[in-house]
Amino acid sequence: MEQATELRPLHVFVCTTVGRHHCGGLGSERILLRLRDQLEHRGLTHVRTTRMGCNQQHHQGPVLIVYPDGVWYGNLRVEDVDEIIDDHLVGGRPVERLRITPDGEWASTALT
Ligand code: FES
Repeated sequence: MEQATELRPLHVFVCTTVGRHHCGGLGSERILLRLRDQLEHRGLTHVRTTRMGCNQQHHQGPVLIVYPDGVWYGNLRVEDVDEIIDDHLVGGRPVERLRITPDGEWASTALT
């Protein structure tokens, strides 16, 4: 089991907004479950996870954000979760191939 005591606190937000074309409809529930299962299994208590609402990026979804790093991941598959844990949440190096940049205009009235 990994030692999490020396790792800095991180907070992972996973968009699970329901809808056929939203992150929930694109498989984010399985991503959140895999993330939580692996964090628990490996004793990685430095990572907090929270469900997140829509950030108008589901055209790049499923979306996951890591704070305080401000790193956005998108187009995720459940198979990507372990790499994010290993490289970023434990190793401190974002997984560049999975990063996205939020785009479009922000409009609070369009948020779910
Ligand atoms: S539903 Fe996830 S960003 Fe919109």
